[in-house]
Amino acid sequence: MATQPSSDRGVWSGKLGFVLAAAGSAIGLGNIWRFPYMASEGGGGIFVLVYLICVLAIGIPVLFAELSIGRATERNPVGAFKALAPGTLWPAVGGMGVLAGFGILAFYSVIAGWTVGYLWMALTGDFGPGVTAEQSAQMFTDLIGSPGPALLLTAFFLAVTAGVVRGGIAQGIERAAKVLMPVLLFVLIVLLVRAVTLPGGLDGVSYFLKPDLSELTPTVLVTALGQALFSMSLGMGAMITYGSYFPRDQSLPFAGTTVALADMGIALLAGLVIFPALFSAGMDPQGGPGLVFVVLPTVFANMPAGGLWAVLFFGCLAIAALTSTISLLEVVVAYFVDERGWSRNKAAISVAAACFLLAVPSALSQGASAWLTEFGWLDIQNIIWGNYGLSVGALLICLFVGFKWGPEKMLEYVELGGNRVPGRGVLAFVIRYVCPLAIATVLAFIIITGQYF
Ligand code: PHE
Repeated sequence: MATQPSSDRGVWSGKLGFVLAAAGSAIGLGNIWRFPYMASEGGGGIFVLVYLICVLAIGIPVLFAELSIGRATERNPVGAFKALAPGTLWPAVGGMGVLAGFGILAFYSVIAGWTVGYLWMALTGDFGPGVTAEQSAQMFTDLIGSPGPALLLTAFFLAVTAGVVRGGIAQGIERAAKVLMPVLLFVLIVLLVRAVTLPGGLDGVSYFLKPDLSELTPTVLVTALGQALFSMSLGMGAMITYGSYFPRDQSLPFAGTTVALADMGIALLAGLVIFPALFSAGMDPQGGPGLVFVVLPTVFANMPAGGLWAVLFFGCLAIAALTSTISLLEVVVAYFVDERGWSRNKAAISVAAACFLLAVPSALSQGASAWLTEFGWLDIQNIIWGNYGLSVGALLICLFVGFKWGPEKMLEYVELGGNRVPGRGVLAFVIRYVCPLAIATVLAFIIITGQYF
């Protein structure tokens, strides 16, 4: 039986509140850590091109599909499918989303912990003039390879996330995002100017922007699709949950599009900082998960007041990661609160604690445990949940909206409280046919070729 939405769920303080919170969820390590790392493994420009196509043709339609499901039901992902398709298997799609949120949080919090470690190092003056590429690489390996700090930082980040989620949809987060997002944007623009003017920087720009079609492989397709979904927080119900708090009397299309474009813009900016810096420092473009952390100190080293920029950058990055981990934990917590009747307090604390257990092997797989490092545990988690989990989730959401609930319903809730969507027929067609076919084709390619990673 479907539960009723509780009256004290809360709503965003208007459209701006939603844009800030949803952009806070979308903008995070996905843009600044994962995007350059995936682009470096996917051959640079070709990956960026496929990513952009995926954002526009798949990401934006799926974003509106998720937001409209949330808006129509005002429930968590499982409850939402129960309300729209009672007595069917569809709620399992919400269940998969909850699981994916848990799986993503378990490796995401490890990387988020690194940002706190880096903030600490920046505050104690480790970055600034004279840091060489080798020293930077050594600092990174030292931090992530020591079991104590790696585990402590992960635990710290999960504890802070749980602390916020316990308090409900925190006004504080909206307020913090309002200040910190613009600061992050400003810092990135300054870093961009510095990076592209470094000697050899322009080679990085061309690596990042010039697609080499011969590098197009099924793996590039699936990683770029997964990256688009991951970066926009799609395929696991975060945007169903966030849409469920959207005020009914306000217009959604513009707000949703703003979130999507802001997310894409920050990713592109991050790429235009990292790749010029990487080429200028003569490093290997196959940077792996350490890419951003190793490359950026070489930029700070070449800037006046580099140490201060480092503090600003890692401070903003840690907050951007926090607004994302909050949305990941919120999905799982909302499920236990709404569907299982747990208290918010109990749900937030026990889910975060369980998540820490799953995070331990990820944290130890960066040098602390030889076996886990060799196995590549963290990368594998990233790919399983981030690429495959979200792609399958998004595919099922499209099929649900396209064939079970109906694109007309989706449009009704996208347009609720606002104007008609221009080209609504196109959006309906895309969500029904284009998105599911495209995602299914990419997944089929992977299965046929066996190039899973
Ligand atoms: N979009 C977030 C980021 O880019 C990560 C995330 C994925 C958050 C899925 C919620 C759901 O950092």
